[in-house]
Amino acid sequence: MTFEEEIKRRRTFAIISHPDAGKTTLTEKLLLYGGAINVAGAVKSNKIKKTATSDFMEIERQRGISVATSVMGFEYQGKKINILDTPGHKDFAEDTFRTLTAVDSVIVVIDVAKGVEPQTEKLVKVCRMRKTPIIVFINKLDRDGKDAFDLLDEIESKLGIKVRPLTWPIGMGHDLKGIYNLYKRNLLLYTPNSTERVSETVNISEIADPELDNQIGAEDAEILREEVDLVESVYPPFDRDVYLNGDISPVFFGSAINTFGIQELLQCFLDIAPCPLPKASEERIVDSFEEKFTGFVFKIHANMDPKHRDRLAFVKVVSGKFKRNTNYKHIRLDRNLKFSSPTAFMAEKKSIVEEAFPGDIVGLHDTGNFKIGDTLTEGEIIHYKGIPSFSPEMFRFINNADPMKTKQLAKGVDQLMDEGVAQLFTMQTNGRKLIGTVGALQFEVIQYRLKHEYGASCNYENHNVHKACWISCEDKAQLEEFKKVKYRSMAKDKYGRDVFLADSAFTIQMSEQKFPKVKFHFTSEFED
Ligand code: G4P
Repeated sequence: MTFEEEIKRRRTFAIISHPDAGKTTLTEKLLLYGGAINVAGAVKSNKIKKTATSDFMEIERQRGISVATSVMGFEYQGKKINILDTPGHKDFAEDTFRTLTAVDSVIVVIDVAKGVEPQTEKLVKVCRMRKTPIIVFINKLDRDGKDAFDLLDEIESKLGIKVRPLTWPIGMGHDLKGIYNLYKRNLLLYTPNSTERVSETVNISEIADPELDNQIGAEDAEILREEVDLVESVYPPFDRDVYLNGDISPVFFGSAINTFGIQELLQCFLDIAPCPLPKASEERIVDSFEEKFTGFVFKIHANMDPKHRDRLAFVKVVSGKFKRNTNYKHIRLDRNLKFSSPTAFMAEKKSIVEEAFPGDIVGLHDTGNFKIGDTLTEGEIIHYKGIPSFSPEMFRFINNADPMKTKQLAKGVDQLMDEGVAQLFTMQTNGRKLIGTVGALQFEVIQYRLKHEYGASCNYENHNVHKACWISCEDKAQLEEFKKVKYRSMAKDKYGRDVFLADSAFTIQMSEQKFPKVKFHFTSEFED
C-alpha cells in the first residue's frame, strides 16, 4: 500500500458525551463490529464510575487499566480506525479537551430522554472552536424519550450546530418498530436485546412502497411518511463538504445496548468521516501527506508501578512516517531523541511497532523529557498550536509538609503538571505555588501520587479565585499599569505567561472598565 493510501484509509476520532449517555456501550459495539473484541464488557473496565468519586485509589487503579484502552485501533472494511478514549468523569474534562486536539472528527452521543446535557455542551463548544466535523448519535431509543423534532431543535439551539438526520426513528420505547435509513433508503426493523451484529433490513425503494405498511403497519407507515416529508422539507440535503467543514452534523438514531442502528452509523462514518487533516503550527500549516515526520504529544500517562517511574507519552502522527530507532528532534529541548520501543494500540493490546502513519497514535516511553504540547520533527522547527489550558475552577496553595523532602516535592509537582494533572501558577508577590484544577478529585490524586511516587508530603490551603485570566494588550503602557495595580493578583503560568487571578466576576468587569485595552481570556489559546 502506498503512503497516500495508508493516510486515506485512516479515521481517527473520539466519542464524547455527558456521563451515562452510552459512550462506553457505543465504543464497545463499534469494536465488536470491527472484530477487535469478542465479548461485550471488555471496554467497561476502563470506565471511571460515578460511584468512585470519593475513592481516588479506585480511580488510580482504573487509570492504570485505561492506558490499554486510551487508544483503540482496529481494522474494518479496509479502513484503519483509531478511537481515542476520553474520560467521562467531569473532573477529568481537561484531559478530554486535550484529546480533542488529536482527533479528526467526533461522534457525540446524546440520551434520547435527557437531551443535551452540560458536559456535552462544553465538549461540543471545544469542537466548534476547531471546526471539528461532528456526527450525532441519539441513543436509548428503546426507552421513551423526547420527540425527535424537538430533540433536533434542542441540539441546534444548545450546541450551536446545524443538523441533518440521516436515519429516522419509527416509534420509541415500547413502541419502537425500527428506523428508516434516509441515506440508504431502507428500513431497519427492531428486535429487542439483539446481540446479533446485523439487524434485519428491508429495502424500501421509495417511501410510498406498500411494503412499508406490511412491515410496520399502516398507521405507523403513514406517520413515517409524514415525518420523512417534513424532514426533507425542513433540513437541507446532506452535503459531505459542509459536514467536513464543521458546518452541519448528520444525526443517527439507535440503541447502543441493543446493537441497533450502530451499523448504519459506522457505515456512514466510514463513508464520510475525514482522513487525517492538515494541522496548524505556529510557523505554517502542515499537511498530513508531507513526507517528513512531524507529531505532537497530547497526553502523558504515568506508569502505575512506583518502582518504574517511566511514563508513556502519546504522540499523534501529523505528517510523514514515524519510524522506530530513528532520530527525531524534540523541538522544545532542542535535542535528538530516538525510540526503541514505540507502542501501537490495537483494541486491548499494546505492541511495539516499526512504523506509524499520519492519524496513528504512538506511545513513547519517557523518563521525563516530554510535556503536553511538545513537538517532534525530522529537524524542521515547528511548534504545533492548540493544546489550550482552560481556566481551572478550584484553586489551592500547595505547602510542603515534610521539609526533608523539598526536592522530591518540587520534582513531583513539576512532573505531575507536565502530565497535565492540574495547572500550576506561581504568585508574583512571593513565589508561592498555587494549584488550579477542574475538580476537587485532582487535589486528592496529586497528594496521593506525590506520596507514593515521589515520597513527598503536601497539604493545601484554599485560595479564593473565581477565574484565572490570561491577559493581552496592544498598549504596553496600559498593560504595565494594569500589572502594577493588580500586582497582588498576578501570577505566571508554567510557560511564564502572565495570568490575572480574579476573585470574582465583578472584579473582571471592573477591570475591563478601568483598563479598556486589556483583554481577558479564559483559555490560554487566543487570537490577539
Ligand atoms: P457512558 O460511557 O456514556 O457513561 O455510558 P455507558 O455506556 O456506560 O451507559 C450508561 C448506562 O446506559 C449503562 O447502564 C448502559 O447499559 C445504559 N445504556 C447504554 N445504551 C443504552 C441503550 O441503548 N438503551 C438503554 N436502555 N440503556 C443503555 P448502567 O445501568 O449504568 O450500567 P450497566 O450496569 O448496564 O453496565
